[in-house]
Amino acid sequence: MHVFKKITDLRAWLSEQRRRGEHIGFAPTMGALHEGHLSLIRAAKARGDVAVASIFVNPLQFNDPEDLRRYPRMPEHDLLLLEQVGCAALFMPEVEEVYPQGEDLTVRLDFGHLTQVMEGRFRPGHFQGMATVVKRLLDIVKPSRLYMGQKDFQQLTIVAEMLRRLAMPVELVACPTVREPDGLAMSSRNLRLTPAMRSAAPAIFRALTAAKTDFLNRTPVELLKQRAIQTLQSAGLQPEYFEVVDGHTLLPVEHWQPKQFVVACTAAWAGDVRLIDNLILQEG
Ligand code: PAJ
Repeated sequence: MHVFKKITDLRAWLSEQRRRGEHIGFAPTMGALHEGHLSLIRAAKARGDVAVASIFVNPLQFNDPEDLRRYPRMPEHDLLLLEQVGCAALFMPEVEEVYPQGEDLTVRLDFGHLTQVMEGRFRPGHFQGMATVVKRLLDIVKPSRLYMGQKDFQQLTIVAEMLRRLAMPVELVACPTVREPDGLAMSSRNLRLTPAMRSAAPAIFRALTAAKTDFLNRTPVELLKQRAIQTLQSAGLQPEYFEVVDGHTLLPVEHWQPKQFVVACTAAWAGDVRLIDNLILQEG
């Protein structure tokens, strides 16, 4: 696997790939890689793309400086995993390479409601920072396809909207959430869970699956949400939100309707680790 720290070196290699008629499949990450990340590389390869990953802990998207400081960093481990799965190249830049001094690369699109609810409400500035880095990385890599996880459902929705608004010539491929055997969604932040909180955390998936059953049984959404919050609290987690939303607009869903794309999204604290997860309750 090629490892690039500089944009110019990466670009030279990418041009060579394109000259050979290859399509680039790109999976941006913040490292501390797990099967969820690797599934994106596998998906790219399955499509016949030359898989390119990036590892960059983007300071712009951390609203909490402590979260940024404590974010796990394990480059050797990550390199090994990417090698094993057949990733062709890794872009691992320093902050100054991505955000050169004096250049304002901020994405200032107004995503309206999409960035104001759920994660947007609890993590001010997070999505603008995320959109800025994704746009910057896409401008550098110029992939044919962008592989992202459904695990971060709101992020995926906002990236889709950004690509549409900026008419960027890249196909967004949404990949299903990879879970631990007990249902906990894989996340780099799981590494920071205490043993007690690791045991408590699968309650998130239990709450989501129960919500799906409730929803499909036409249980009133308010009641379903109360039950979910109760499940999370009884396990010793501290839920921030549990929302049932339209999967396109992220507007709240009040009751079951046929043919609506509906997703339950939640965030909960497990000790001092904030976990997010979601489940599709009904495909559109
Ligand atoms: P990170 O949390 O490292 O995730 C990188 C990609 O892996 C995202 O597309 C995310 O949705 C996906 N992913 C994470 N856990 C997953 C799981 N359990 N199953 C499937 N996919 C999973 O998301 C980010 O980084 C950043 O916001 C980023 C897009 C890189 C911009 O900085």
